[in-house]
Amino acid sequence: MIAVLDFGGQYAHLIADRIRRLRVYAEILPSDTSPRRLQDVEGIVLSGGPASVYDPGAPPFDEEVLELGVPVLGICYGHQLMAYVLGGEVRPGGTREYGVARLQVLEEDEVLRGLGPSETVWMSHGDQVVRVPPGFRVLARTPDCPVAAMGDPERKLYGLQFHPEVTHTPKGMRVLDNFLEVCGARRTWDMERFLEGIEEEIRRKVGGRKVFLLVSGGVDSTVSFVLLTKVLGKDRVYGLFVDNGFLRKGEREQVERTLGTFGRVHTVDASEDFLRAVEGVVDPEEKRRRIGETFVRVMRREADALGLNPEEWVLGQGTIYPDTIESGGTRNSAVIKTHHNRVEAIKRLLEEGRVVEPLSQLYKDEVRRVGERLGLPEDVVWRHPFPGPGLAVRVLCSDGKGFPFPEELSEGVEKVADKFGLEAEVLPIRSVGVQGDFRTYAHPVLISGEADWGTLEEVSTSITNSVEGVNRVVWELTPLKARRPMRATLTRERLDLLREADFRAHEVLRGWGLEREVWQMPVVLVPLGDGGETVVLRPVCSQEAMTAQFAKLPLEAVREMAEAVLSVPGVGAVLYDVTHKPPGTIEWE
Ligand code: XMP
Repeated sequence: MIAVLDFGGQYAHLIADRIRRLRVYAEILPSDTSPRRLQDVEGIVLSGGPASVYDPGAPPFDEEVLELGVPVLGICYGHQLMAYVLGGEVRPGGTREYGVARLQVLEEDEVLRGLGPSETVWMSHGDQVVRVPPGFRVLARTPDCPVAAMGDPERKLYGLQFHPEVTHTPKGMRVLDNFLEVCGARRTWDMERFLEGIEEEIRRKVGGRKVFLLVSGGVDSTVSFVLLTKVLGKDRVYGLFVDNGFLRKGEREQVERTLGTFGRVHTVDASEDFLRAVEGVVDPEEKRRRIGETFVRVMRREADALGLNPEEWVLGQGTIYPDTIESGGTRNSAVIKTHHNRVEAIKRLLEEGRVVEPLSQLYKDEVRRVGERLGLPEDVVWRHPFPGPGLAVRVLCSDGKGFPFPEELSEGVEKVADKFGLEAEVLPIRSVGVQGDFRTYAHPVLISGEADWGTLEEVSTSITNSVEGVNRVVWELTPLKARRPMRATLTRERLDLLREADFRAHEVLRGWGLEREVWQMPVVLVPLGDGGETVVLRPVCSQEAMTAQFAKLPLEAVREMAEAVLSVPGVGAVLYDVTHKPPGTIEWE
């Protein structure tokens, strides 16, 4: 077993996921786990995190962990921490590096075995190690980072400033694999083993009770439902499908059909409750909070109406690992945004132990593998993810004033775009993003002009890296005539408009056979324009949603999509999101 000590980085769980893909069981533990508890593990990883080793409030850590004789790999913050406590030197602040960097490998030894002299790696840090501790050697550097990798093979201690766990580091898996070799870790983890363990856990948790499960039709809740039904039997699992009014076109019928073949599902139309709850609300976090609470209220009401005795029932949920991380589910991780599965009422049920979440340890790719093993049809297993609050988080609202910005912001942005021969304009709205380990609400920038994907990628990265106050870049597919924010809230009319736009865009995506090329393609309604609304297409490629790249779809398909969306009455303009995650999240709210 490999222990991943969590210092609060967004990627702590990603490290565990990658190690598990290499078939070694990995678990996340708090940063201050005692050395006694760690003495029998095969290896230890110190994760990244948003703190500086000099912060008085930095996550606690027992230095004796480094003296156990167990191999240790420090990543990003973990690398700096290792250097700091063992007598090296860490320089605070200074050059900030976000994104891709060129790694110059000086010693291919041990953890860097199999890498070429120059490799692409992904960096995200402020502080950096400038002198290695006694006994360590510098194994690699980048132009901006003198100690990008260090190691003491004698004590089997290694540190990496870059992130081997993200897909933007192409040889990252090789590096992690090398570390597992150093550890002599046993390759015994697979979904078969997980299923055996989880079946036992489901029986233990549920005991003699029954499960009342909210199903959305998404992969996570569907797999949970089928798994629970398989373990407990059809009579003991009751699926409740809440139509919150934020579903896509035709979705309700499709979900009822699919789930009905596996077990007991009941649908409730609660769209009025939800619409009322978010009436007039503009703030995205408030919207999410109200949707989450309405969810719990509807669920309780339905449970009462069905006469479910709370003593006999537990709540089932399709929560997966990233859901718990992104809400600060692990102790040290920064809050990115409130997840609907983690609203207060649900938290209380969790505390009372009346919740079963069979997939809460798994990543999407693992959930899909479990789904395949359970015999679910391919189109269900490979469905695009869809957020619990549904289209509600894709209908941006505005009080009509928007978010004004200083003149310097426009100037900064124009200057960068000008280098690429493009025009850029800051938009007076905001969307959510994630930069470093923190959430940002910032302005999108509109790029107009002819450009290829490569140029758009460069200009987008340059703008978000160099201009503070911007976290997203969109490309103008059809002219956006007016940049004024319109007063707009979450209404049935706007939802219907988005439903149609979303449907037409996805029809084109399917028609081109591009559905499996993308992880998902949110279609977002933005209250900008002059009468007509603005629609943003946000197709992304991703492996686990923690990081993502905007999809570089064939331009012809994109043009066709834009036309299809523009043909929806009420749509005035179509834009294409050309932002990676980070700095922009996949969803806009
Ligand atoms: P972001 O926008 O954070 O999204 O990059 C990451 C993944 O999570 C989905 N998402 C949600 N899923 N409830 C969910 O069940 C939510 O509140 C929620 N918010 C985002 C998003 O679609 C993407 O796949």
